[in-house]
Amino acid sequence: MRTAMFSTKPYDRRSFEDQGPNHEIAWLEPRLSAETASLAHGFEAVCLFVNDDANADVLSILAGGGTKLVALRCAGFNNVDLAAAERLGIAVVRVPAYSPHAVAEFTIGLLLAIVRRIHKAYTRTRESNFALDGLLGFDLHGRTAGIIGTGRIGAIVARILASGFGCRVLAHDIHRDGTLEAAGVRYATIDEIIAESDVISLHCPLTPQTHHLLNPASFARMREGAIVVNTSRGALIDTEAAIEALKSGRLGGLAIDVYEQEADLFFEDLSAEIIQDDTLQRLMMFPNVLVTGHQAFFTREALAAIAKTTLANIADFAAGRELANAVRAAAVRG
Ligand code: NAI
Repeated sequence: MRTAMFSTKPYDRRSFEDQGPNHEIAWLEPRLSAETASLAHGFEAVCLFVNDDANADVLSILAGGGTKLVALRCAGFNNVDLAAAERLGIAVVRVPAYSPHAVAEFTIGLLLAIVRRIHKAYTRTRESNFALDGLLGFDLHGRTAGIIGTGRIGAIVARILASGFGCRVLAHDIHRDGTLEAAGVRYATIDEIIAESDVISLHCPLTPQTHHLLNPASFARMREGAIVVNTSRGALIDTEAAIEALKSGRLGGLAIDVYEQEADLFFEDLSAEIIQDDTLQRLMMFPNVLVTGHQAFFTREALAAIAKTTLANIADFAAGRELANAVRAAAVRG
């Protein structure tokens, strides 16, 4: 099936080509938007990544050009207007799980880096500054870690923190995972997690219910010096509120792999550009903030699994088979 792949990077192309030749894929570098949607004219499928914008207007341009399938090469689907896709007769598929370990392990990496100031130490020692002032951290052992969202990724993070580090782990999810409870994780309300946790890690999807889950009121109720890690979706955190909480010292550290306004920035080399996003620039000025550019998924294993499942999703659609990885508006609303 002829597929237009938006936001293609060389590593995407390599991982798809490693799965075998002749996939009828057009490798398009631009991000999908109303301006670029016409590039998919005549393609029955489009393949999208996290910052491609498949809003209702874009989907209607795609439908007008003959597109019948949106194949997301990621797990999250907050960037697709599912109701509009349904109206326009466009099916949506995704890769629900490619390597939850990739994201969970990276989350732990970010957490350790921010708690022990490893990001600061790295730049210091490169300039032969071996002083320790300003690098004081704390033991994770015995601390309370709050995990919001205990799906595939959050559950792994919870287990690593509970059994690997000896943290007391509190969790919140709309569905409880009994196996986690058996492993010593205690489910709690969001309010309890916010009030009691030394470190909080976000692993729930971005939905209208979770938008700005961490907001001025939540930061105000956190423990003094609490650490927040977000490898899920940027808009789970009200960034301006996080900045205020960092300024007051209430928030003791922030490590984010995702950012509310990342769509115009992430995945590009902008090192020679003047960044216009004052909020992100302000955030990156704090010594206790670590920002990475949506790389938690970026392992060899994950890229291979993404390519394999995406191609299988497209082949299923082309053959008229049932779509095991379909995302439907009704299911999400329910
Ligand atoms: P998942 O679907 O397995 O787990 C999400 C969990 O969140 C589920 O258990 C669900 O019940 C829970 N949840 C839903 N609404 C909630 C709410 N209102 N409050 C609390 N919990 C709620 O998803 P998975 O694979 O664990 O991924 C988690 C998130 O990580 C994804 O939504 C995606 O946005 C993000 N992600 C980020 C990547 C990166 O590279 N930074 C890569 C892959 C995923």
